[in-house]
Amino acid sequence: MKNIVWHENKINRKDRENLLNQIPFVLWFTGLSGSGKSTIAVELEKHLFEKGKFAVLLDGDNIRHGLCSDLGFSAKDRQENIRRIRETAKLFYDNAVITMVSFISPFRQDRESSKKLIGKDFIEIFVNCNIETCEKRDPKGLYKKARKGEIKDFTGIVQVYEEPESPEIKINSDTTPVETAVNEIISYLEARKFL
Ligand code: ADX
Repeated sequence: MKNIVWHENKINRKDRENLLNQIPFVLWFTGLSGSGKSTIAVELEKHLFEKGKFAVLLDGDNIRHGLCSDLGFSAKDRQENIRRIRETAKLFYDNAVITMVSFISPFRQDRESSKKLIGKDFIEIFVNCNIETCEKRDPKGLYKKARKGEIKDFTGIVQVYEEPESPEIKINSDTTPVETAVNEIISYLEARKFL
């Protein structure tokens, strides 16, 4: 960065880990709209809170009301959306905060870049749900609109969703109850000694 020099802090991540008594990690939920990403993430956030863990949840629909309200759904805008989110996740992670990210994040390349930025504590969770089920659920009525041609770049109908090839965790959300999904994630985190 030209003319910009990093300014060191006196408090680092280890200090904050000790203060908060936790080891941070980034859970990156990816999947189609209506696959259940946020439903699972919200339950997990509650579980972590009750365990005394300081966690934040960044959710696509919510972040698009603020930080990313200037972005649409073209491939270029989605790429910028995910770039901002990975940088935001990194800020939280570097400050010892457990971070959950729930975005469609349809492009493999963008998720790979996020993994690269965060490093070994990046955990990709593929919330796998067939599109017929998502479309049947259609909690926001968006699939119906997309089928009528009212949303021109809807994921899975018009635009592509590139499935993760080797996610750390895969949840088949059309057959797995939310509680079971949450327990699977907790077991994974315990096995990796995060919890
Ligand atoms: S992402 O592709 O850039 O990662 P993000 O997760 O932020 O998407 O936002 C997805 C949410 O926006 C969906 O859950 C849905 O409610 C809403 N949405 C509105 N338009 C679209 C669209 N064209 N494609 C997908 N989701 C859309």
